[in-house]
Amino acid sequence: MNWVTRMHRMFAVALALLAPAALAQEGAGDVVYVPTPQIVVDEMLRMAKVGPNDYVIDLGSGDGRIVITAAKKHGARGFGVDLDRYLLKLANDSARKEGVADRARFFEQNLFETDLSAATVVTSYLLPEMNLKLLPKLLNLRPGTRVVAHDYAMGEWSPDDEKMLIVPEKTVGDPGKSYIFFWIVPARLAGSWESRLPVGARTVSYRFTFEQEFQVVHGTVRVDDRESRLPQFKLDGEQLSFNLTVPIGGGMVSHRFRGWVKGDTIAGTVTIGEGSGQRVMPWRAKQTARGEMQMGAVGTPVAVAAP
Ligand SMILES: C[S@@+](CC[C@H](N)C(=O)[O-])C[C@H]1O[C@@H](n2cnc3c(N)ncnc32)[C@H](O)[C@@H]1O
Repeated sequence: MNWVTRMHRMFAVALALLAPAALAQEGAGDVVYVPTPQIVVDEMLRMAKVGPNDYVIDLGSGDGRIVITAAKKHGARGFGVDLDRYLLKLANDSARKEGVADRARFFEQNLFETDLSAATVVTSYLLPEMNLKLLPKLLNLRPGTRVVAHDYAMGEWSPDDEKMLIVPEKTVGDPGKSYIFFWIVPARLAGSWESRLPVGARTVSYRFTFEQEFQVVHGTVRVDDRESRLPQFKLDGEQLSFNLTVPIGGGMVSHRFRGWVKGDTIAGTVTIGEGSGQRVMPWRAKQTARGEMQMGAVGTPVAVAAP
């Protein structure tokens, strides 16, 4: 197919997308090419706080604008994958023209088979059911990996941040509007964990049972053989933080736990007590049994952006 025919075809596809609420299907890929407006690309990268240490992977990269912008404006590196050879050439040519070909590359590859292990940021503008198919793989990425999606959410995985932009020239999806969804891959905290801490003259044992639905955690703690409920809190990648007041000895003792989950260990600090008696000390917890992260009724596509 020559360039002119190709442009006509893309234009025809774009016209076909004027009305529907979701992106239509065409060709070898699972979704047609519709570029993310540049102001939306800029905001997606801003929300993900992309910087020079980041490795950005765009799933279905089109003309390459997301990875090229990440390289050019934020000094990041990365790659995009697409099945459309014309778009791949366009993207690699643009990367060269913009002087970022060494940091932004584009490969012919099915996005569902792409190795995402190098990513610190994954971006997408795909259909809701494609997002859902990707969801288990995204949740298995390194905790702290950021995911940003244009227009469609990820089923029941509540975003950590979301934004709507007015984009008058946009004619697909919800015309005139773009939605951006941002998530941070949470660490796996579900399960049982044990700690021992000095409180007053004693060493007290804490047995935590964390239940986790995506990044949202709740559960119980058994201290001195008395069980208390934990407050609900949100994981920020591998970081956790929660307050707890429990009976120890004769009185109520307040705790502020802050930590980082690394595999089967939590390391951080705990602030125990109030006022002049307050003490900050190291906190370590060891996992004694793994639990399952709950993912709601994943499998039911939820098109958040469509009215
Ligand atoms: C809606 S466009 C988004 C383009 C770009 N990410 C952007 O936001 O400007 C989706 C892209 O995904 C590509 N695509 C569709 N199914 C794919 C698949 N299974 N593997 C790789 N790319 C695919 C299409 O060719 C198209 O370029």
